[in-house]
Amino acid sequence: MTEPVLWPLDEHTRAKHRVLRAYLDAWIPIMGQQALRMRSFTTGAPRLLLVDGFADPGRYTGGEPGSPLIMLDALGSHRALPQIHDVEFIYLFIEQNPRRLEHLRAEIAKLALPANAHVTVEQGAFETTFGAIVDDVVGREQRLVPSFAFIDPFGYSAASMSLTGRFLDFPRSEALFFLPLSFIHRFVGEKARRRR
Ligand SMILES: C[S@@+](CC[C@H](N)C(=O)[O-])C[C@H]1O[C@@H](n2cnc3c(N)ncnc32)[C@H](O)[C@@H]1O
Repeated sequence: MTEPVLWPLDEHTRAKHRVLRAYLDAWIPIMGQQALRMRSFTTGAPRLLLVDGFADPGRYTGGEPGSPLIMLDALGSHRALPQIHDVEFIYLFIEQNPRRLEHLRAEIAKLALPANAHVTVEQGAFETTFGAIVDDVVGREQRLVPSFAFIDPFGYSAASMSLTGRFLDFPRSEALFFLPLSFIHRFVGEKARRRR
């Protein structure tokens, strides 16, 4: 059966979006000011990276925004935006499903983005797409720019957990990883059953 492009917003996701928004409302001005202070020690414009590793079509069936649009609005409507307009905010949205990805692109095209927001939407699996970026930075013995990653798979994935661990090894990287308790329950239950 083909996956639907859009699906209804449930209460759990609504709560998750409140956490994401509150996190970014604090992260954006703190990291933005820090990037400006570090400007004299680096070359080029101060930059911050925001990744949504399991993006979505951009909206839910009721028209509510999904995580990529929430992440963009957190910058666009932040009252600190005038103080951090010299910081480039690089957004990377990764979505595996091509139809959801096209929908997301169309939703982003309708937005009036701040001039310092740069958006890339990539089709692929988070594990390989972001994994290649992490490998490349590590291979060149570079550091990733200060980054935030929202990692929200539809359940438990060992590969995305391990990639998140490697990402968090970079200084000044932060991740918000959503793992529903029901998956931990199931995982612990299966382990216990195997031991019997
Ligand atoms: C839980 S939903 C994301 C919800 C969204 N983050 C939000 O809060 O509005 C997971 C999304 O990731 C996509 N997806 C599934 N596996 C993926 C993978 N390995 N890499 C990237 N995207 C994936 C699905 O098509 C789906 O749109």
